[in-house]
Amino acid sequence: MRALGTQVAIVGAGPSGLLLAHLLALQGIESIVLERQSREHVEQRVRAGLLEQGTVDLLRAAGVAGRLDREGLVHEGFALRFDGAEHRVDFTELTGWTTTMYGQQEVVKDLIRAREAAGGHVHFGVDDAVPGSVDTDAPRVRCTLGGERVEIACDFVAGCDGFHGVCRQVVPAGALTTYEHTYPFAWLGILTSLPPASEELIYAVHERGFALHSMRTPAISRLYLQVGPDEPLARWPDERIWTELRTRFALDGGAALKDGPILSRGVTAMRSFVVEPMQYGRLFLAGDAAHIVPPSAAKGLNLAVADIRVLAAALSAWYADGTRELLDGYSRACLASVWQGQEFSAWMTSLLHPFPGEDRYAANLRRARLRDLVTSRAAATAFAESYVGLARPRLG
Ligand code: FAD
Ligand code: DHB
Repeated sequence: MRALGTQVAIVGAGPSGLLLAHLLALQGIESIVLERQSREHVEQRVRAGLLEQGTVDLLRAAGVAGRLDREGLVHEGFALRFDGAEHRVDFTELTGWTTTMYGQQEVVKDLIRAREAAGGHVHFGVDDAVPGSVDTDAPRVRCTLGGERVEIACDFVAGCDGFHGVCRQVVPAGALTTYEHTYPFAWLGILTSLPPASEELIYAVHERGFALHSMRTPAISRLYLQVGPDEPLARWPDERIWTELRTRFALDGGAALKDGPILSRGVTAMRSFVVEPMQYGRLFLAGDAAHIVPPSAAKGLNLAVADIRVLAAALSAWYADGTRELLDGYSRACLASVWQGQEFSAWMTSLLHPFPGEDRYAANLRRARLRDLVTSRAAATAFAESYVGLARPRLG
């Protein structure tokens, strides 16, 4: 077995792992990133698309927002449709903050290019990485690189390997507490080569289920439909998808949604999950490896970036002057934001989705909450602060 060494071994080249490698490199800290999938796979994987202003500011300060600044679509509000009428929520007027639409896979491409340009080590197609000795001062990761077995000695392991990753699994049972909730529905998401029907996002609550009209570029729209859990895609031919979208977005007297070619489609489960603490010895979990939210409030990617901001600062302090305080406080510092994101995601999920089998009483409570949001400035402001991510920095 060949011996390799680095300062931080990072498992996973999603947004968390790549951003951590980049921020560490800016501080002169070396890392090796190990990714199970191919580069093509991670660059094409369609996922999140809404970046909070804090996320954009961090990417800009890290020097990886050139294309994001040119191509990202800056938003100041969204439309909320229910009971056949449309209402606008002007979150920028309420908070001073904007959001930016820019596909997660574009962030990933930009970060991979930045690592390449800096001569960083990102290895794709590594499907057997296993961290070990993370409860000692000499952790290591074993894997196969280019057909050869290697052992990477390191100071720290960053578990940035998503919900289904290996890092959380190496922590002994009993050392972590998990909190979990599964929703009785899923989202069917499509990407279509059709210019967005509106410049802003449209959230539609209909008795047949929720629908969202989002976008990635001025020529590509992203639409979602609430469907049953474990819904087979085969039950959703194009015609059924467009008919259902038209029904849920219908406005009294409004134009019907146009349909277009579907470029990709997928079903996303609606699940909430948190592990505490987010650290075990010298293993630090970040992003989806430690917590996931249902996609309703678009918080998953933004929470992952928030973890990495804290972890990169903590590791930088340790390498700069040997201080452990920030590393020891990593989990506590992240979890306040994580639970705030959980709460808002759960709240927005219950606001937007008819639950299967719910009674008319529950449906009317939701309608009252929706009306409150579009008639009370106080309610809209509280909502907008969480939506744009302004509530998070207040948590310290
Ligand atoms: P990931 O992006 O999951 O990255 C983890 C990486 O680790 C992956 O590249 C994976 O291949 C790799 N990996 C896994 N196991 C191993 C292993 N054993 N060894 C090496 N590498 C490994 N959020 C939103 O805000 N809005 C959305 O619309 C939205 N849609 C989503 C749709 C889907 C289908 C999914 C799964 C998530 C969605 N999310 C959405 C959530 C958001 O995409 C995630 O929060 C975000 O990707 C988290 O980034 P991450 O880097 O922590 O994890
Ligand atoms: C997107 C997803 C969301 O959950 C959301 O609230 C806004 C936008 C998106 O993928 O574009």
